[in-house]
Amino acid sequence: MARSWLIFLCLSFILLSANIEADASHCSIKGFPLVRNISELPQDNYGREGLAHITVAGSILHGMKEIEVWLQTFSPGTRTPIHRHSCEEIFIVLKGSGTLYLASSSHEKHPGKPHEHFFFANSTFHIPVNDAHQVWNTNENEDLQMLVVISRPPVKVFIYEDWFMPHTAAKLKFPYFWDEQCLQSPVKDEL
Ligand SMILES: *[C@@H]1O[C@H](CO)[C@@H](O)[C@H](O)[C@H]1NC(C)=O
Ligand SMILES: *[C@@H]1O[C@H](CO)[C@@H](O)[C@H](O)[C@H]1NC(C)=O
Repeated sequence: MARSWLIFLCLSFILLSANIEADASHCSIKGFPLVRNISELPQDNYGREGLAHITVAGSILHGMKEIEVWLQTFSPGTRTPIHRHSCEEIFIVLKGSGTLYLASSSHEKHPGKPHEHFFFANSTFHIPVNDAHQVWNTNENEDLQMLVVISRPPVKVFIYEDWFMPHTAAKLKFPYFWDEQCLQSPVKDEL
């Protein structure tokens, strides 16, 4: 009797593992081709109105270890949440213009009033590690398109409701919007 239970348990475990693998298989692209056509990569707003996001090369999706690259388009008025992450981030503005709000105050209790930095097509900017920031398409007439590079993927994002919310109250959003489908289990982050 005990033995058949053991066999049953083992079988269930094997079936369960196989099932988990099958579910994840569409997420990690095997044999990631060297040259790909960006127009043919999947694009989605991941539940955020006005956003078009493409993971050009990703950690969860393609097995990148050190960096991840996104191509993002923000329609007029569209913005990111106020957020921080403990990775480096570089933006290259391909089209349109907008405003970067950046609070360089990770040593204070909260981000505080951010500095405004206007940027244009062919601007580039980077976000210092852990500085709270928000990128906003403040151009009413044009889409804003940017190539974004981050280190240490997958990104672990802490979201603020406003600039005066304490750092300790910022809410961890992990996995982030575009990693949600393929990454279910939360992991711990420092800070
Ligand atoms: C890339 O994909 C787009 C959309 O499918 C297509 O129109 C274009 O010709 C492709 N470019 C190349 C170089 O294959
Ligand atoms: C961006 O800068 C590069 C380097 O100067 C230049 O070749 C390119 O034409 C510029 N693009 C735009 C859209 O201004």
